Amino acid sequence: MSALSEMSVRDAIFGLRATRIFQDKPIPEEILDEVLEAATMACSSGNTQPWEFVVVTDEELKEQIQAEMVDAFSVIDAERAQTEAQLTDRSGRSVTGRAAVTHLHKVPVIVVVCWNPERGIRLKGEYAENADGTLRETREIPGGRGVSLFQSAQNLMLASRAHGVSSLFTTFFFLKREEIKKILGIPPNIFMECAVFLGYGDEKLGKPKRLSVPEVTHRNRWGTTYELSAERS
Ligand SMILES: Cc1cc2nc3c(=O)[nH]c(=O)nc-3n(C[C@H](O)[C@H](O)[C@H](O)COP(=O)(O)O)c2cc1C
Repeated sequence: MSALSEMSVRDAIFGLRATRIFQDKPIPEEILDEVLEAATMACSSGNTQPWEFVVVTDEELKEQIQAEMVDAFSVIDAERAQTEAQLTDRSGRSVTGRAAVTHLHKVPVIVVVCWNPERGIRLKGEYAENADGTLRETREIPGGRGVSLFQSAQNLMLASRAHGVSSLFTTFFFLKREEIKKILGIPPNIFMECAVFLGYGDEKLGKPKRLSVPEVTHRNRWGTTYELSAERS
């Protein structure tokens, strides 16, 4: 096991950026082991731990996924309601994820995060089986089934950053979910929810640009601005 990183939780949180271009450099297995363990330490509804991770490092599989995503983007780009300018973040970068697709074959590790309904808290009629064995949601669940997975994905990214490994959280595999599930041999009854790309960044990214706390926070009642204390403002 590698020596634990000295990075503080604060530095990990405040410096985390969405990285879409990675160096062609593998992540040491011991780091990968630990960040996956960090993902399993997340809280989950009823401690059901409904996550399953598919860790993709195989070049051929990555190329197959990339081919599907290039195809998906050629369709989605034509259908987007927003202009290119509206699809840039507060740092002027495109948020569509195209760069991630273009460079996908060079991402050292893609962790595909799935929801296993056998381990979740289930309600009657929550999902039904399609003719092909895939499941579909039939009833809205308070809190949503994906929530626990997102906690674990965030743990994965913060633990990675603590080891100098950059990441990208994505949901765009959903555009080709059946095709990608097939490539990875994910059974029909397992829901593929999101993926986290991991690697050593190959793009210059500054600090995250975010709305300020007062811009998004209300004190006691909606509409009363939450003012920061003098030291923070
Ligand atoms: C629910 C969710 C879905 C996302 N999906 C994608 C995606 O499909 N492709 C992509 O490139 N980035 C995706 N992202 C990353 C965001 O675009 C990114 O976190 C955001 O622009 C902030 O980037 P920054 O931390 O570098 O400022 C997603 C993030 C979240 C939370």
